[in-house]
Amino acid sequence: MPTAFSHRHLIDTEALSKADIETILDLAHFYAKQNCSKNKKIDKFYGKTSVNLFFENSTRTRTSFEIAAKRLGMDVVNIPVAQSSISKGESLLDTALNIDAMAIDALVVRHWEDGTAQSIANRVKAHVINAGDGKHAHPTQALLDAMAIRNRKGTLDGLTVAICGDLARSRVARSNIHLLKKFGAKIRIIAPDYFMSPDYAEMGVETCGDLREGIRDADAIVMLRIQREREGLAFDFEAQVPDYVASYRLNHDMLNAAKPDVLVLHPGPVNRGIELTDELADDPKYSVILDQVRLGVAVRMAVIDLLLSEG
Ligand code: NCD
Repeated sequence: MPTAFSHRHLIDTEALSKADIETILDLAHFYAKQNCSKNKKIDKFYGKTSVNLFFENSTRTRTSFEIAAKRLGMDVVNIPVAQSSISKGESLLDTALNIDAMAIDALVVRHWEDGTAQSIANRVKAHVINAGDGKHAHPTQALLDAMAIRNRKGTLDGLTVAICGDLARSRVARSNIHLLKKFGAKIRIIAPDYFMSPDYAEMGVETCGDLREGIRDADAIVMLRIQREREGLAFDFEAQVPDYVASYRLNHDMLNAAKPDVLVLHPGPVNRGIELTDELADDPKYSVILDQVRLGVAVRMAVIDLLLSEG
């Protein structure tokens, strides 16, 4: 079936239309079913090559992209950045151009600096997929979050979604907001002042300092990790975490304020016992955390498929 998807790269969710998002999620739905079958692999992109260029640590996202590309029949190369020529002083762009010169088809990039994925996309022939760009965007995470919500709620239209935690440094929150807004979602962001950012003022979201208040009537709650490794964190982890936990750790009792069938999401890695209680993280009635990971492979297969089919 021909699709109207016409993007060369996937850099952020802002650039996707509602129809694009539905096209990706519908194809991901097909791949999610295939991923449960006996033979999970197809040869649609046999002989094509995907390269994972990750400048930040990653377990699930890198593995997910690798599995996704392999299930589509592709060869996958992982660049261990610490050992690459970057450590010999080669510029990031030169590295990308050199990898691109090897006639690759997809370049999956994660970097700590906002805008890196776009600058690489501006120069290479391969299709660039942003796998986490500073605090700016993480489109495949937002797409898989949307899919986890749509699978359980049946729709994305007009939902109330609460996003709580370290919003200042969260590329996941920014990408989720851009995506969910296209479906008319009402979004509340919840955080203490030290985790808020003025960036959100123009994004059409409600801001709330209180967790119970913020999750009122929510259909879904996205809990975010405290980004300890990032710069600009005016937060003394050891000293301040007990206070943070007392006010912002989500537990079963608080869920009474939300819809009875509320879903709890977390992009991972979870700081166990800090963003939400262990009991809640592991309760399949509310928590879709492992569903997010499962669907992530299908979403990435769909993204690779649509980008590479675009030509
Ligand atoms: C997120 C990321 O890297 O932005 N994780 C992920 O991709 N699974 C969120 C996080 O690191 O907290």
